[in-house]
Amino acid sequence: MTDKNLALRYEENGKPGDVLRLEELPYPSLGEGEVCLRLLASPIHPSDLGMIAGTYGKKKTLPATGGREGLGEVVEVGSGVSWVKVGERFRIPEGAGCWQRFVAVAAADLWPVPKDLPAEQTAMSFVNPPTALRLLEDFVDLQPGDWVIQNAGNSAVGFAVNQLASRRGIKVVNLVRDESWKEPLQEAGAEMVFTESEFDPRELRKSLSGAGLRLGLNSVGGNSVSQIIKSVGDGATVVTFGGMVGDPVRFPTRYLIFNDIRLVGFWMDRWYRTQPKSAVKQMMEEIHRAQRTGHLQVPIDQTYPLEKGLEAVARAATSGRRGKVLITG
Ligand SMILES: NC(=O)c1ccc[n+]([C@@H]2O[C@H](COP(=O)([O-])OP(=O)(O)OC[C@H]3O[C@@H](n4cnc5c(N)ncnc54)[C@H](OP(=O)(O)O)[C@@H]3O)[C@@H](O)[C@H]2O)c1
Repeated sequence: MTDKNLALRYEENGKPGDVLRLEELPYPSLGEGEVCLRLLASPIHPSDLGMIAGTYGKKKTLPATGGREGLGEVVEVGSGVSWVKVGERFRIPEGAGCWQRFVAVAAADLWPVPKDLPAEQTAMSFVNPPTALRLLEDFVDLQPGDWVIQNAGNSAVGFAVNQLASRRGIKVVNLVRDESWKEPLQEAGAEMVFTESEFDPRELRKSLSGAGLRLGLNSVGGNSVSQIIKSVGDGATVVTFGGMVGDPVRFPTRYLIFNDIRLVGFWMDRWYRTQPKSAVKQMMEEIHRAQRTGHLQVPIDQTYPLEKGLEAVARAATSGRRGKVLITG
């Protein structure tokens, strides 16, 4: 191999900007049953930054390579592997660490990915679109014409919620911080988009005239989730699956008692751990079908080669991004 095997690694938990280093690693030598993947693309998610900081729901054994989700192409096949060919694409197993150019992984851990989809979108297909799908399917039996409200509407999960919901005839109200997201979200199928500062939950309740929001989706926390709780209809479910603000979720007690609001949590990792392979396969086929037809597209802010991986991580941690930041191999 002519290209250097670079990796973004950390030896201790801390702020990504403080602890991540770009290192050169030896080219991996393959053991029995292993293949070597070359990184094609890997997004930088809030959970990647949380995992490096040591604040996420699970931790890596240190030292570790960053990157939870990514797409790789087979460049070498080890002995004892007959079903994998050079050039095929697979999800890079999370435990391997995606932010490295070449990585040896057990062929048994590989999850195949169609080759006809754009590498960047496919690299982002395993975490956020499935989360959006599960949020829409697993909590409330939503019917065409039903309403959902979410904050961080312009996040990758938020876009996927709009795109998947609009195909089902479900209407999504979005809260965002920046007005400039209104148009792109409407193009993605959003029914309504408000900035958090202009949003008035009582006005929304009135304008829906009793139709009622049946599902609220919260990945922000703080005051933002209170706005959602005040907007939803009686008996609605509010799912918390992220905490971008880092504050405890504020819950106005009266809504729990007088409006029968249910507050629950969701973690995609647990879903993957507890579901049979057949359910994962079915879900991923649905996601990849929607990507193939162009109905599921996450906006991309910038793509950086591994050599500029530290800049990529710094960019991913800034607000005002116009989508996902990705690292390519
Ligand atoms: N539970 C699960 O299994 C699961 C799975 C996937 C994702 N998630 C969570 O879902 C959330 C979205 O993930 P993603 O990858 O889709 O995110 P993303 O595309 O990286 O976007 C981050 C979003 O968070 C917003 N945000 C950041 N800081 C904020 C603050 N202080 N107040 C309000 N909004 C803020 C951003 O708004 P601006 O553009 O205005 O900065 C943006 O909309 C994250 O919390 C993530 O951890 C959870």
